Amino acid sequence: MGKGKGTTRRNILITGASSGLGRGMAREFASRGRNLALAARRTERLEELRDELLAAHPQITVAIRSLDVDVHDDVFRVFREFDDELGGLDRVVVNAGLGKGQPLGTGYFHANVATARTNFLGALAQSEAALELFRPRNAGHLVLISSVSAMRGMPRNLTTYAASKAAVGALGEGMRADLAQTGIDVSTIFPGFIRSEINEKVKKVPFIVDTETGCRALAAAIEKEPNKAYVPAWPWTPVAYAMKVLPLSVVAKMA
Ligand SMILES: NC(=O)c1ccc[n+]([C@@H]2O[C@H](COP(=O)([O-])OP(=O)(O)OC[C@H]3O[C@@H](n4cnc5c(N)ncnc54)[C@H](OP(=O)(O)O)[C@@H]3O)[C@@H](O)[C@H]2O)c1
Repeated sequence: MGKGKGTTRRNILITGASSGLGRGMAREFASRGRNLALAARRTERLEELRDELLAAHPQITVAIRSLDVDVHDDVFRVFREFDDELGGLDRVVVNAGLGKGQPLGTGYFHANVATARTNFLGALAQSEAALELFRPRNAGHLVLISSVSAMRGMPRNLTTYAASKAAVGALGEGMRADLAQTGIDVSTIFPGFIRSEINEKVKKVPFIVDTETGCRALAAAIEKEPNKAYVPAWPWTPVAYAMKVLPLSVVAKMA
């Protein structure tokens, strides 16, 4: 449990809210009566989601903005605009991400660099922008969405993705160390497999849960404001531990 224990985070920004986990977490937090700031590039989807959430929960505020997290100046501008519009952001969920990677040395540097740029540099820009808002207030909850794949080096199309998510995990831990004496909380969430567009083409995925089940577990984990959480906790907490200690040859077979 973080320093903000007992504080209700009323105004929540989620990036990558047009699909999958971001959209699912928006639905979960809306059902808890929270105001939302939702960003992604596909704004028509955000408009649909805003209409859906306001119809179901007329008491909340839902702000939406077009945002490409690879355009770093826009990240800072949009976060400040959301902060003004909602009257102060209490929680920022750094969720936008992609898994386009391919094995290294096979002619897909463009895909690997896109994955690294969005997942790591995008998360860095979002963390900077969030902390510029949180530091003067000495309050706020920053949530980074990493991945269980961050536990170890991963083969094939997961190599760059896993490395980018490990970097996100290290970034979260570093910020937590840096902010230990402040009122700001930093949580790193390591999701296991949750059905979304990122894995829709993969038919057989071990332990996968549907989007709603996964996002309910994500929202519940985030509300506890842990330093780290593997979600859903079962089976991913023991799986993550096993991944850290097993030989690489065994871990590679799990990928
Ligand atoms: N699903 C899983 O099993 C799983 C497991 C571990 C971690 N994760 C992580 O969870 C996060 C959400 O993924 P998902 O599973 O929900 O996949 P998804 O359905 O493909 O959603 C990805 C979201 O990220 C946004 N996005 C991608 N690139 C962006 C950019 N340059 N600028 C702004 N937004 C961008 C997309 O919005 P637009 O295209 O509209 O911009 C979309 O809303 C990712 O960080 C992913 O790595 C997922």
